[in-house]
Amino acid sequence: MEQRGSSLAEIQEVPRNSLILLAGPPGAGKSTFCHQVVLNTLAMDRPVIFVTTEQSPSGVMGQLGEKGIGDPKPAALSFVDAFSQTVGLTTPERPDTIDANCEDLNSMSMAIAKLQQKIGKKDILLVFDSLTSPYLFNREEVFRFMRLCLVKFAAEGNSVVALMDEGCGKSEDLVAMMSIAEGVIKIETEGDRQLLNVVKHPKVRPTRIKVSIEPERVELKSARHYDPSVMRQFVKSVFGQDEVRAEALRGTLRGIPLFLSIPTDDLSSLSRQLTRRRYREGEIIFHKDDFGSTFHIINVGSVKLSIPSEEGEDVFLAYLGPGDFFGELALLDENPRSATATAVEPTETLALERGDFLDFLRWQPDVAIRMLGVLAQRIRNLNSQLENIISFKPQARLAQTLLNLVKTHGSETLQGWEISIPLTLAGLAGMVGANQAAIRRLLRDFQAAGIVSIKNQRYVIHKPRELRKRAPREAGRG
Ligand code: CMP
Repeated sequence: MEQRGSSLAEIQEVPRNSLILLAGPPGAGKSTFCHQVVLNTLAMDRPVIFVTTEQSPSGVMGQLGEKGIGDPKPAALSFVDAFSQTVGLTTPERPDTIDANCEDLNSMSMAIAKLQQKIGKKDILLVFDSLTSPYLFNREEVFRFMRLCLVKFAAEGNSVVALMDEGCGKSEDLVAMMSIAEGVIKIETEGDRQLLNVVKHPKVRPTRIKVSIEPERVELKSARHYDPSVMRQFVKSVFGQDEVRAEALRGTLRGIPLFLSIPTDDLSSLSRQLTRRRYREGEIIFHKDDFGSTFHIINVGSVKLSIPSEEGEDVFLAYLGPGDFFGELALLDENPRSATATAVEPTETLALERGDFLDFLRWQPDVAIRMLGVLAQRIRNLNSQLENIISFKPQARLAQTLLNLVKTHGSETLQGWEISIPLTLAGLAGMVGANQAAIRRLLRDFQAAGIVSIKNQRYVIHKPRELRKRAPREAGRG
């Protein structure tokens, strides 16, 4: 900084009961300035609510991390995430975050009010990045939102910093916004310097401050006219397709056992190759004998793998859940799909195309070894299913199947162990390896003995001990 050091420190401290607008062209360094304000505020033990409209809270945390934020105390820094839901991303949840939708300004006001209530004291700094976000589709309402929500929030003994891009809104709107703010700081770049033009401020007289600082590297100079759809597409092409999506995916990938040992940088390159695919409950992801070119990892939901039979009773192979993968065989042996994959509930997978999948295995042999371990386990399961069919009667196999389902998909309730996936009679018959009539009879016996109850394809096991007695492999276990 070259001039008026005290002024810079003063404008980085936002006075109580005031709303300061930080305006300037995209890329001028508004966010950088604003992050410094956040760090100063936290250092003074004042809580911060950060409303993100153009990136996820973890993106902001990453940038604050680079500036040395450390680990803020609980409730010191909370977020309203008005970005992820708006653009359809599922980002890793942070306990201090409330989701809102940019297209519904009421949901944003409510999220801010909830956090305010949770913090439970005044003197909060609210940061809004940014009021001219292309994702704020209710643009005409933004001025009203600013007056009714942000100005009111500031007047209750708090402070607000709101960012806006000049050139990304109708000039009369921007002038109206500036007129109701207590402070307006315009930021411009001049070579490799930042020029802070304090147009008005409750504490500092109008002044111009030059700061030597690297501007944000976002070039958006041609965006003079604001058109939400063009802007949305533009921002997606700059951050969206790659950085924002990749950042959200990186968090997801970190929780997948197959990728346990992969360094963060390598996860970043993988996340750029993966695409999210969503399926409705009951939707077929692919059929047996289809040509296959995609490998899937389940992110949300569950998938049934089965082989359809002419008689209508599918041969059940497996139920897979979050973190599990499928679709690798057709890519490895270049044969058609060996089974049909069906989404059992609303499901999202992360999909990788064959070329990227094979390159990835060559590049990360640890992942290939872990995948072989899973395939080995699947062969063992098949062997044991085969052995069960040969060695045990249908009642024992049914008892064993239900116990296995409790292990993999069971959750304890007041009534007993509930199997969390819906099971059709045909599906269960396929898993047990018996016909539907026999399974219906056996289930009736189990129900009569109070061992199992069934409602809308949901199974609750009330007496697991009784089931164990009937399952020879489990007999003798506690
Ligand atoms: P693919 O043959 O490409 O498509 C069907 C997928 O089902 C297959 O890859 C495997 O991922 C999966 N699959 C096939 N057989 C089994 C099994 N016995 N147990 C678990 N998964 C299987």
